[in-house]
Amino acid sequence: MFDSLLSSFLKKSDDEPFIAVDIGTSAIKILSVMPTGDRFARQGYKLVGVGVAPTPAGAVNNNAVVKPEAVGKAIRTLIDANDIKGERTTFAVPAPAVFTKRITIGYCEPKDLEKNITFEAGNYIPHTIEAVHLDYQIVKVHGTSSMDVLLVAVKNEIIDSYAAALQQADLIPAIADVDSFALENMFEISYPEERAKTVALLNIGSRYTNVSILQDGQSLFAGDVGVGGRLYTDALCEALHMTPAEAEKIKAGETPSGYDESVVAETFDRTTEHIAAELQRQIGFFWNAAATDRSIEGIYVCGGAAQIPGLVEEIGVKTGMICVAVEPFRWIEWNSQFDEDLIKEVMCSMGVSVGLAIRRFGDKKQAQARIGVNG
Ligand SMILES: Nc1ncnc2c1ncn2[C@@H]1O[C@H](COP(=O)(O)OP(=O)(O)OP(=O)(O)O)[C@@H](O)[C@H]1O
Ligand SMILES: [Mg+2]
Repeated sequence: MFDSLLSSFLKKSDDEPFIAVDIGTSAIKILSVMPTGDRFARQGYKLVGVGVAPTPAGAVNNNAVVKPEAVGKAIRTLIDANDIKGERTTFAVPAPAVFTKRITIGYCEPKDLEKNITFEAGNYIPHTIEAVHLDYQIVKVHGTSSMDVLLVAVKNEIIDSYAAALQQADLIPAIADVDSFALENMFEISYPEERAKTVALLNIGSRYTNVSILQDGQSLFAGDVGVGGRLYTDALCEALHMTPAEAEKIKAGETPSGYDESVVAETFDRTTEHIAAELQRQIGFFWNAAATDRSIEGIYVCGGAAQIPGLVEEIGVKTGMICVAVEPFRWIEWNSQFDEDLIKEVMCSMGVSVGLAIRRFGDKKQAQARIGVNG
């Protein structure tokens, strides 16, 4: 009785870490970190909890969680197995489900902003205002004449499907972020020395790849390309009639037994070639859309599929640019309680999770628009 009364009187500290949950088509990634140093001079983060598990088969479809119970159960199991504390979560919405548009509106006072933007947004977003979660960020103010605003809209049913999975795991869905925005935040925090450059940041997942063009620490353009590690699984299963589990082993670099090695190699190389060519084409397209006169100086790559042998190298060959593997845990330290080998195995796929985990309530510095849920 007293316990519950006491807890209802105690406000949660703003420094209590969120649990970051990235529900991908292939894997569920969970992360919790605490800042080291004080509020004003944060030097890095320390790892509080981490866990990765396969997403239940068919549970994420069309950018929504279609089996919230199964996903919720998998999340709860991960949290319990890794002894991760807390309830409030930040979670990722897949970029392909998000509508973004930069618009110019007449200058207005802050008190009128929300009303005006909501009114203007109705002209741009392909759904009714009531059907979406809408957020915005002022990108540039042109004196007292006009302002550029980034609109961000996601259909309610998409956000609700992710929130439902978290609720099934007895968690509180507090803040939703677009995966590409979280990724850009991770990069900004992890690679401050690259801030002055123009770079492409890739996150190669299972179904799609996030591509951001960053310059001077700002996102010039973010898009997604429908290629990822699942193409290998599909191609191997089709060409050799193997099971997805067998294909996964080959993707991780194991030598296949019982299959024609030359067909495996040919299928593998063809897929690598296709993905690299498609990314090269789209990076060029996105760079054009970014409308910068500066060239891309390097490509930074993360995502689970970036570990597929030869893929990152082939992207380097196709684009003729230096491709560097991103280390999302670059500014995160961990103690001996954590399994170093396991962390090294999963961190490549945790770029989005790191960007989500470093969010705090009351974050003022927001490079992009955020989609608030209960936050
Ligand atoms: N160690 C590894 N070696 C090779 N491939 C790997 C490895 N780990 C994961 N992958 C591949 O990476 C992909 C999953 O990456 P990731 O977890 O980033 O995707 P996801 O977030 O689940 O997918 P999406 O965001 O596209 O829905 C899968 O295709 C998987 O086979
Ligand atoms: Mg992903």
